[in-house]
Amino acid sequence: MSNPEPNSESNEPTLPADLDPERIPVHVAIIMDGNGRWARSHGHDRLVGHNQGYRTLKEIVFAADAAGVKYLTVYGFSSENWRRPQAEVGGLMELMVRAMQAEIEELIERNIRVRVSGRVSALPADLRDVFSDAMSRTAEFAGLTFNLAINYGGRAEVVDAVRAVAALVKSGDLQPDEIDDHHIAAHLYSPEIPDPDLLIRTAGEMRLSNFLLWETAYSEIYVTQVCWPDFHPEQFYLALLDYQKRVRRFGAVVE
Ligand code: IPE
Ligand code: IPE
Ligand code: MG
Repeated sequence: MSNPEPNSESNEPTLPADLDPERIPVHVAIIMDGNGRWARSHGHDRLVGHNQGYRTLKEIVFAADAAGVKYLTVYGFSSENWRRPQAEVGGLMELMVRAMQAEIEELIERNIRVRVSGRVSALPADLRDVFSDAMSRTAEFAGLTFNLAINYGGRAEVVDAVRAVAALVKSGDLQPDEIDDHHIAAHLYSPEIPDPDLLIRTAGEMRLSNFLLWETAYSEIYVTQVCWPDFHPEQFYLALLDYQKRVRRFGAVVE
């Protein structure tokens, strides 16, 4: 695999002067799309695009933390991405192991809490181990929560929650007519994380691709044409500035 030029990783991002610190989204979710297109446009293999995407992710985690975002959920691998060629799937799994091994000490230094959302049991053992180690080492941290969605599907998440609720009904602990939004929400993969305020998708597709179907009911959506490997802190802050212009109504009338 040829090595792309590294991004400037050591520079701390500069926050735009017009970003209102009082109106930072608490939870930002990102569909990191366009690694393959980026690779093709630079004459590289798709895995080079994913590797470059990892560098971008590192920048964006620190940029989100610097802006005061409390939760960052990123779509790393969907339940549908198993349909890709085996070499790409294997390369992505290896990349996630390598990336977490390389970054864990810095995440700890920065007080960042690591979480995973998805059907983790179907992942390779080394990936499960490296993330379970990262989660336990960072579990008590109060800084940014970095939540990586791996083998994640929004429908599968709702199915898993419904199964858990059905078990409560079966055991007699819950009556069917008592079930409401909160019972479903409480059995999602990360019930302690509030719904995303802002959902960003890179590379221009206007779809959810089975990401956070339940949680994005009232998220503000920001789609940029920029492919994920080119999405730097400046672009992330443009998304936050755009979010700050939105009027969130949640179905009510806002004067
Ligand atoms: C997103 O980039 C990363 C993953 C889905 C793992 P893609 O690999 O989907 O890139 P495109 O959409 O083919 O450009
Ligand atoms: C969504 O991107 C999944 C991730 C970013 C991990 P895809 O590239 O898989 O989505 P589609 O296939 O274009 O809908
Ligand atoms: Mg894609």
